[in-house]
Amino acid sequence: MAGAAGRGPADVPLVGRSAELTRVRAAVDRVAAGQGRMLLLAGPAGIGKSRLLDEATALAGDRGFVMLRGGARVLGRGLAYAPIVEAFGPYLRALTPGRRVRLLDGLADLGRLFADLHLPPAEPLGDPALERTRLFEAVARLLARMAERTPVVLAVDDLHWADTATAELLHYVARGVSGHLILILGAYRSGEVAGQPALQALVQDLRGAGLAEELMLGGLTPEAIRSLARAVLGGEPPSALVELLAARAAGSPLVATTMVSELVRSGGLFRSGGAWILGRSAGELVPILVRDLVHGQLRRATDEQRNLLELVVVAGDAAMLPVLCEVAGTGEEDLVSRLRDLRDLDLVFEVTDGRDLVYRTAHPVYAEVIYAELPEAVRRRRHADVAAALERREPEDLALLAPHYRDAHDQVGAERALEVLTRAGERALDVLAGKDAAGYLEAARSHADDRAPGLLERLGDAQQIGGHLDAAVAAWKEALEAYRRSGDHAAVARLSQRLAFAVWDQGEFERAQRLLAEGLAALPATEPDLGLGLRESQTRLLIRIGDLPAVKAEVGRLRAAGEHAGSLRTIAVADMIDGDVQLRDGPSPRAHQTCLRALTAAERLADPVLIEEIHRPLMMIELMLDGPGPARRRALYALRLARASGVPTLEMASRFLLVLVDFHGGDWEQAQRGAVEVLALGHRVSNVRAVVAGLIVQALVLTFRGDIAEAAACLAEARTVLGPRPADRRMVTLIQTVEAQIALERGDPDQAVAAAADLDTSWLMSPAFSLAVLGGTQVAAGGLDAALGTADRLRRFGPRARYAAALADELMGLVHGARGDRTAALDELGRAVERFTTLAMPFDAARCRLQWSLAAPPKRRDEAVAAAQSSLAVFTEVGARRYADRARRLLRDLGARPAQPRRSPAAGLSGREAEVVRLVAQGLSNADIARRLVISPRTVTTHLQHVYARLGVESRIALVRYAMDHDLLAEPAARRRKAGDP
Ligand SMILES: Nc1ncnc2c1ncn2[C@@H]1O[C@H](COP(=O)(O)OP(=O)(O)OP(=O)(O)O)[C@@H](O)[C@H]1O
Ligand SMILES: [Mg+2]
Repeated sequence: MAGAAGRGPADVPLVGRSAELTRVRAAVDRVAAGQGRMLLLAGPAGIGKSRLLDEATALAGDRGFVMLRGGARVLGRGLAYAPIVEAFGPYLRALTPGRRVRLLDGLADLGRLFADLHLPPAEPLGDPALERTRLFEAVARLLARMAERTPVVLAVDDLHWADTATAELLHYVARGVSGHLILILGAYRSGEVAGQPALQALVQDLRGAGLAEELMLGGLTPEAIRSLARAVLGGEPPSALVELLAARAAGSPLVATTMVSELVRSGGLFRSGGAWILGRSAGELVPILVRDLVHGQLRRATDEQRNLLELVVVAGDAAMLPVLCEVAGTGEEDLVSRLRDLRDLDLVFEVTDGRDLVYRTAHPVYAEVIYAELPEAVRRRRHADVAAALERREPEDLALLAPHYRDAHDQVGAERALEVLTRAGERALDVLAGKDAAGYLEAARSHADDRAPGLLERLGDAQQIGGHLDAAVAAWKEALEAYRRSGDHAAVARLSQRLAFAVWDQGEFERAQRLLAEGLAALPATEPDLGLGLRESQTRLLIRIGDLPAVKAEVGRLRAAGEHAGSLRTIAVADMIDGDVQLRDGPSPRAHQTCLRALTAAERLADPVLIEEIHRPLMMIELMLDGPGPARRRALYALRLARASGVPTLEMASRFLLVLVDFHGGDWEQAQRGAVEVLALGHRVSNVRAVVAGLIVQALVLTFRGDIAEAAACLAEARTVLGPRPADRRMVTLIQTVEAQIALERGDPDQAVAAAADLDTSWLMSPAFSLAVLGGTQVAAGGLDAALGTADRLRRFGPRARYAAALADELMGLVHGARGDRTAALDELGRAVERFTTLAMPFDAARCRLQWSLAAPPKRRDEAVAAAQSSLAVFTEVGARRYADRARRLLRDLGARPAQPRRSPAAGLSGREAEVVRLVAQGLSNADIARRLVISPRTVTTHLQHVYARLGVESRIALVRYAMDHDLLAEPAARRRKAGDP
């Protein structure tokens, strides 16, 4: 599969740079109109100068310019005229002898540059300076002769490495281009002109004469960086990666592309469920290529400058003049002048944080590389120095102080360090910055002399918020031990409860139960509230494990205990569990009422975690009662609450339900995006259930879209992740449901029935949906009586369960149809259409409408055609390819022409792109296509990459197949006629 391992940066289409390309085009236009000139591309290392130079050269090439391309090499420094020889050599050698003789006539000095051309020796002048001018003149005349017939572009890269002679030659030549069809392009690193007087003179002089303009390249926009990542990966980059790149690459395409490739190579970025996922271990690395680049830059600094740079890096946000002066032990004036030198080298820049001037390295990776290479002992001492300087100036500024106390380790006083770090940790916890908090608290711990269980517990909290469940569990376990030793029974009970849920999320169900039992046993009678809490948790776990009889027996006892103790909370939990249990028998209004009662109580208690938890059964019930509209509002509200709590695991349920809601509501693109988010979140916080849930919903949408193989792959991955003996019945039932649907779509009813046979319907997340799938498999396999039984189960959810009722109508319609009772079938299906329509479920309505058309008698042909046309429109809109094919087939059988879908896939492609697609389908290579359309091969690649992205295909074969399926191969005029336009 293309892009599975990432693409090389060179194959990536150009992203961003539209303003720059506009200026390049303007320059090409002026040259084509006879105003020869020079265009210089400048900017820091790795910003994309060479890339733009290539793009500009190709652009001129597309306009018919002769292209000459050369560049200086870092190792070739001092080799006279090497870039010029590289640029002209291939062109001259490729000429016919006759043309070459005419072109070089009288330019014997060129023989010095191109020995292999065997020119007659130039007459010696005895004055090296004169000889040099004559050589320059020869090059200028050669260019002018070439440009008599066709315009010429001469591009020279990496001028900062060029020898002095080359810079002087270019200077000379460029001064004479006005009036000729000559464009000279040059690129150089802006921070490296300082030691290059010839280059400096070239730039300043030509600019002054109006012959050259300079294009300063800045960083790419975050959007462009995202496109870059997308292109390298050949798929949508996960949002966590986009954030990482925004922070680390700071607009540099070199850093961004190498980081992405390196992450793919090291496994930090991987595919799961067909999407790219950023693993949690990612983000600590600086790719080798980037490191080399930074080293190259640092070599330009003296030792003294490098020391100062290291100090700037260690000081970080505290790199303000007074602090730097104090730590460096120098006066302000001296330091300012040294910092200015570093700035001229493009190594640091100044920013103002509103109050002080702060110095930073030119690019964040510089800081990373420099810091990584400082010996640990030096770092610690430097941090301690900075902390001491700050204590004198800003002793109250925790945000500035704490990082230095953290990183100074044993080099600072323990008492003050403990104080600063604990306060900073607590403050970070307040704003839910889990990772920061964990860093401070972990450091604080090393300064605390006893086992400090309180600190450990908070450290666990921080790890949990940061999404590191394993680390949280480790810290809490240690805290629990410490509480046990100190005999703090209340704390033992409280913490056992939290630990139980954490290990449950890790898939350790029995250990979770054991922990709760131990907590209860340890509890003193003086703590009745805690006792209730532990019992709530036990019942909650029972329902998750799926022991329904035990839950039913326990929930009444729990409510009674809550009422006896007057605990609103316990009663709310009991109601929530009760509602969840009732949901197993169908989404009845009674179940709804029970959950709503629990919600009211939780809202009175203002407990966001409980409110969020109650929303899970509540949303499922509402989805099945009233369709996706109300459920969506609920899910969004729950998501907001979960986010506000700051615990990532809490987001999972509401996100998952949002995906289901979007799916049912017909917004499949949104549903797929959401599924990938669930998946990414699950991987990030190592939550097995979330990963599985994300994979399942992804599979669900893929199935209905018709991407059966991808869907099956997602389910296989989900089964692998769950392991051989999954305890989580809900997830298993969901997997079985989708597997049954896949078998149905594949046209294998027996397999479908087998997959659906042991659906344990008491554990359905969405009982109505799964029952409908079961019914569908029964009809397909000819088990009509069984299907009737299933329809009956759906009906038993009651008339208020409108979604279930619609599904029951549909199933009955299918059964009647299979039995040949047309009238009854049409009746039931018509009702289903109506119900789904009022529930705002367009896909389901369209599916029933298509069934209706299939069942309609010949005398109702016109109605059948209209219904099939309208369902085709919906299938096309949501992207249900197989269903759309079915509708088209039916329409053809009915003798009608399928209407062109409203959103024609061809409409997304430009005329040129569509042309490229047609030529690909004819089997032409990129080079052939380029020749045929008179564009450069790179432009063909770019067109194709746009087309791949737009149509969502990943290979030429897939492209051709898509184009055939969607009627993209006809010439435009023919296609219009086919669509019935005049
Ligand atoms: N706009 C862009 N779109 C896509 N890829 C880009 C873009 N700009 C740069 N790249 C890629 O980023 C990498 C670095 O770019 P490039 O080599 O052009 O940088 P540079 O400024 O010439 O660096 P140096 O100063 O080291 O010569 C290359 O792989 C290039 O293909
Ligand atoms: Mg370059």
